Amino acid sequence: MEIAQRIDAEKGREKLQQELLQSQKMEVVGRLAGGIAHDFNNILVAISGYAEFLMKTMPDGAPAKDDLNEIVRETERGALLTRQLSTVARNQPLQLKVLSVNTAAEDACKMLKRLIGVNMHLQTNLEPALDSVKCDQGQISQVIMNLVINARDAMPDGGKIIIETANEEVTASPEGMPLPPPPGHYVTLKVTDTGTGMPSETAAHIFEPFFTTKPEGKGTGLGLSTVYGIVHQVHGGIGLETAPGKGTAFKIYLPRTLERA
Ligand SMILES: Nc1ncnc2c1ncn2[C@@H]1O[C@H](COP(=O)(O)OP(=O)(O)OP(=O)(O)O)[C@@H](O)[C@H]1O
Ligand SMILES: [Mg+2]
Repeated sequence: MEIAQRIDAEKGREKLQQELLQSQKMEVVGRLAGGIAHDFNNILVAISGYAEFLMKTMPDGAPAKDDLNEIVRETERGALLTRQLSTVARNQPLQLKVLSVNTAAEDACKMLKRLIGVNMHLQTNLEPALDSVKCDQGQISQVIMNLVINARDAMPDGGKIIIETANEEVTASPEGMPLPPPPGHYVTLKVTDTGTGMPSETAAHIFEPFFTTKPEGKGTGLGLSTVYGIVHQVHGGIGLETAPGKGTAFKIYLPRTLERA
């Protein structure tokens, strides 16, 4: 074998090894999670229901109202986490539908405005003639929520988050992306923040299950591995631009469909 060929083969093997490791980790998470996610979600629904009920019985300006609001917000975080676990565990049947990423982004924004702080500006820049995708609506909103919540967490002193959509054609599979999209037509969803950014040592690990730089109790490290799993499943792609102090941009490529809703 030529040396160049041998190096190629070696690289291929390394890549396979890494993929295998990733899928083994995912399987462990899946088995762990599948059983508890559903029951746990029911508990969260009850907690937030009681908290909202209590909130209604209180006069405006009552100091406990803020605390109750926090309880509701935290249960929303918990609910997102259980959805994440169910996705990783793949115990939710996929409902593939022809849908608009713009609508998904607008819907997610409404919910996210409540979750992000007042010192943060959430802006959308949506392509009006956007092609459709054939995906599971719940999964698309999970992708958006994860990216936006990560952006929020990267901006402790506030900043700007931009959500953009576009039609894009990929001709040659691009190099250096965390998940390069195969050549084809795509709807892209880009989430940009003006936060801390990441050094390349960190960026190299962010899609691994349980990789987190957040303090205990703040992050589980499942967000981006969920995003990766979802996008991989639909044969899409992920691009990443980041540098310390320069903010971060994630770009998700979802294959377009010419089917009509
Ligand atoms: N927009 C971003 N800016 C800076 N760092 C980021 C950004 N998005 C992700 N990261 C880094 O990637 C890590 C992994 O992200 P991921 O969403 O998988 O887990 P997490 O946010 O830590 O926890 P979880 O999403 O499960 O609550 C984060 O801990 C953070 O270090
Ligand atoms: Mg996250």
